[in-house]
Amino acid sequence: MKTSIKNICCIGAGYVGGPTMAVIADQCPEITINIVDVNEQRIKDWNDKDYSKLPVFEPGLENIIKRCRDRNLHFSTNVKTHISEADMVFISVNTPTKLNGVGAGEASDLKWVEACAREVAAYASGYTIVVEKSTLPVKTAEVIKTILNTSNHPSNSERGRCSFDILSNPEFLAEGTAISDLKYPERVLIGGENQQAIQALIDIYKRWVPTEKIISTNTWSSELSKLVANAFLAQRISSINSISALCEVTGADIKEVSSAIGFDSRIGKKFLNSGPGFGGSCFKKDILNLVYLSKQLGLQSVANYWEGVLEINKWQQHRISKIIIEKLFGTISSKKISILGFSFKANTNDTRESASISICKDLLNEGALLCIHDPKVNFSQVEKDLEDFPTSQDKIYASEEKKLNQGKWKFTKNMEEVFEGSDAVVVLTEWSQYSEIKWENVVSKMRAPAWVFDTRSILNSDSVINSGINYWRLGDGSNI
Ligand code: NAD
Ligand code: UDX
Repeated sequence: MKTSIKNICCIGAGYVGGPTMAVIADQCPEITINIVDVNEQRIKDWNDKDYSKLPVFEPGLENIIKRCRDRNLHFSTNVKTHISEADMVFISVNTPTKLNGVGAGEASDLKWVEACAREVAAYASGYTIVVEKSTLPVKTAEVIKTILNTSNHPSNSERGRCSFDILSNPEFLAEGTAISDLKYPERVLIGGENQQAIQALIDIYKRWVPTEKIISTNTWSSELSKLVANAFLAQRISSINSISALCEVTGADIKEVSSAIGFDSRIGKKFLNSGPGFGGSCFKKDILNLVYLSKQLGLQSVANYWEGVLEINKWQQHRISKIIIEKLFGTISSKKISILGFSFKANTNDTRESASISICKDLLNEGALLCIHDPKVNFSQVEKDLEDFPTSQDKIYASEEKKLNQGKWKFTKNMEEVFEGSDAVVVLTEWSQYSEIKWENVVSKMRAPAWVFDTRSILNSDSVINSGINYWRLGDGSNI
């Protein structure tokens, strides 16, 4: 029997739920989609007439919201009603690293996922396909299944018999390119046991994704593949970042090395940009999850291997802070250092795990006066990130934490303010506008001897050097 999906409920209106459902709504106008969230402000922002208030900034998203919102895409806090109406429920809630209790600092906190499963169990009616969109540890589908099948269904008699199938459909979008990643995915992965349920989800995607790119596997392969994909991507960045340090002391240039190795199609050209260390909500959390899983299963060497990827990442962030201090005569106390970019990468307003947070904290600890600029991040987010000290449960690195507050910081959206009296400018996010700065026009505003630190290799070095500013680029060994 063919299951045709007419009504979808997505629980979680975040960076994944919002864009993913927007694209499905755009591609499938006959399907009604309700995105629900417990965060009232977030839902209010998604419904705001002023599109600049949408809670997620993604190129191309605003236009889709304009087309679909209040047509077949709705944002609501009414979890109960929309679950009960749905043929398919996507669980797209946050799965951060656990802060307390067993597995703290490594395992994923599944309390939000479990809450969703209980809500679906309580409110669903008839046959419902439950889709794991969140990134989850292997075997989570079993937990969801147990909750769905053993919970009391209080009004079962009114709703008719409830039955469920569970699918794993991890999301591979990257922030900043979410809309094109969703419209033209390299693959869509669907894990599950029931072919009819899998086909129902394939039927949605095949509206715009070529069928050969829609892969189906067993549930556990699908759940594990998502963790492994992120671990491999992060590993590439740690690998190239480790080499950036080697370049700086040997006279090699990381840009040339990346390019040279990338010509080998077995290595490939993508994801070889050295930088200040990977950020984002996924890489660290998902590797920690893999580390935890490996330890639980007695595979300590596997755990150690992946832990190394995180260690290099943290090392790279601190390494950059140390270089800045060293170049500024060993002290940055009361010196104005301007930070260009606070989001974890360009084209997103997301700051989760951004290298900027760790580097700013290091510099503040040394007494610097920071002037932070970002075109999309807002002041309150920077405040939250810099004032919220990481918890002692951040297991691996807890010992490195110190009190800050010796330095001070301010945030500005005005580029003019950035250069005024600055001893140094540090590029931490690769926003394209930073590569257009006319250094010859700003050098006189900076305090000599001024420095520019380019951790993303996006500046025109000649323009910086010709204006008389000292220039340091990550992985550039040409000055030794
Ligand atoms: P997010 O924090 O932006 O959004 C999650 C939303 O879920 C929040 O708004 C929260 O209020 C809501 N929520 C939590 N519990 C709820 C409940 N019981 N009922 C209703 N709403 C609830 O998170 P995100 O970045 O969208 O990530 C979601 C999942 O997708 C995570 O598992 C993440 O690992 C995965 N993922 C994220 C990305 C990414 O780029 N951000 C990419 C791929 C996969
Ligand atoms: C990542 C995965 O790419 C995506 O498939 C998954 O669904 C979610 O996690 P995201 O974290 O949004 O996506 O962005 P990504 O482009 O992967 O960048 C992650 C971090 O790595 C950023 O801080 C970025 O600046 C950094 N990075 C990326 C590098 O330093 N060098 C690179 O070559 C690529």
